Amino acid sequence: MKKRRGYVYLAIALTLLAIVAAFIFRGSEEQQEIGTVKFGIATYREDDTFISNMMGSLTEIASSYEEEFGVRLNLGIVHAQNSQSTQNDQIARFISLGYDVLCVNLVDRTNALYIIDRAMEANIPVVFFNREPVQEDLGKWDRLYYVGTDASENGRLEGQIIADAYHRDPGSIDKNGDGIIQYIMIEGEVRHQDAVLRTEGSVQAIRDAGIAVEKLDGGIASWERHTAAALAEQYFEKYGDQIEVVICNNDDMALGVIDMVERLELDFSNIVGIDGTPAGREAIRDGKMLGTVVIDYEAQAQLIFDIAYALATGVDPHEVADVREDQSARAPMYVITAQDYN
Ligand code: GAL
Repeated sequence: MKKRRGYVYLAIALTLLAIVAAFIFRGSEEQQEIGTVKFGIATYREDDTFISNMMGSLTEIASSYEEEFGVRLNLGIVHAQNSQSTQNDQIARFISLGYDVLCVNLVDRTNALYIIDRAMEANIPVVFFNREPVQEDLGKWDRLYYVGTDASENGRLEGQIIADAYHRDPGSIDKNGDGIIQYIMIEGEVRHQDAVLRTEGSVQAIRDAGIAVEKLDGGIASWERHTAAALAEQYFEKYGDQIEVVICNNDDMALGVIDMVERLELDFSNIVGIDGTPAGREAIRDGKMLGTVVIDYEAQAQLIFDIAYALATGVDPHEVADVREDQSARAPMYVITAQDYN
C-alpha cells in the first residue's frame, strides 16, 4: 500500500516537473524569437548640443525599457562629422551587421536616397529624425518614418515672445520709438527645414501681431555658439544701437550672441532662441535672454524609440505613437520667458 502511494507521489512530482520544464522551454523559445533588438543610430555630428541631449535621453529610455520588460536592446550609435558619404558607409555597415532598425539623423536631408534604397533592399525599417527627408523620399516605402518638431510653430511661438514683450512694454523693444522693430536674424543652416521655417514663422508672427519689422542683417551660424558670437560681433560693430532684437534659430546660437554681449560689455538682452537647452533656460532665468521655445527632446527621443521598437518587432507604429498621414510624428513644445522666473 505504502509502495503504491509512493508511485503516485512520484508520478505527481514528474508531471509537475514536466509542466515547469515546458514553461521554461517556452519562455526561452520566446526570448529566442525576439532575441536582442539592434538599433543602428546615426547622427549628423557629435558636437550638436540638442542632438546629444536627445541621444542621452534615448539611451536612458532604452535601458529603462530593458529593465522593465526584460528584453535585450543593443544601441549602436555613430556620428558622421557632417559628411553624408561617411554616414552612408555607417548605414551600410549597420545593414551588413544585421541591425533590426535604423534611426537616422541625415547630414543632408535632400540626399536620403542611398540610405532608403539600401534599407529597402535589406528590408530594414528606418526612423529619420530631426533632419527631415523630402516628402517624395519619405513616401517611397511604408517602413520609413520621420520624428521631429513642427518648425513653423516653433518660429511662430518665438516671434510671439517678442510680440508679447513689445505689447507689455513697447519701449523695451522698440528702443528708437519709430514703431518698427529692427532685427538681426541668425540662422542654423541653408537647407534645414527647421531653419527655413523658424525664420519665416518668427517674423510672420510679429507681423501678425500688428507690429512692423525691418531686417537689418542676418547670416548662417550652423547652429553653433562660437560661429554665432563671431557673426553677431560683426553686426553689432556695423549697426550698433540700431539693433533692437536678435532672433536665433536655436539656443546655442543665442548663447553665442550673449557671449559676445558680455565680452564687449554691451547692455543688450533682446535675444530669443529655440530648443530650451539647460544653458538656454539658465540665461533666461538670469535675464540675459528674452525667452525660448522648448522642444521637448525627451518626448522626441521617446517617439523615436517607440516607433523604432514597434517597427523592429513587427508592430504598427500607429498603435504606439501619434503618427500623421505623412508618416511623421511631431514632438510637443512650449514657451519659457523671463516672466516664468519672476
Ligand atoms: C534643430 C535644433 C538645433 C540643431 C539642429 C540640428 O532642430 O533646434 O539646435 O540641433 O536641429 O539638425
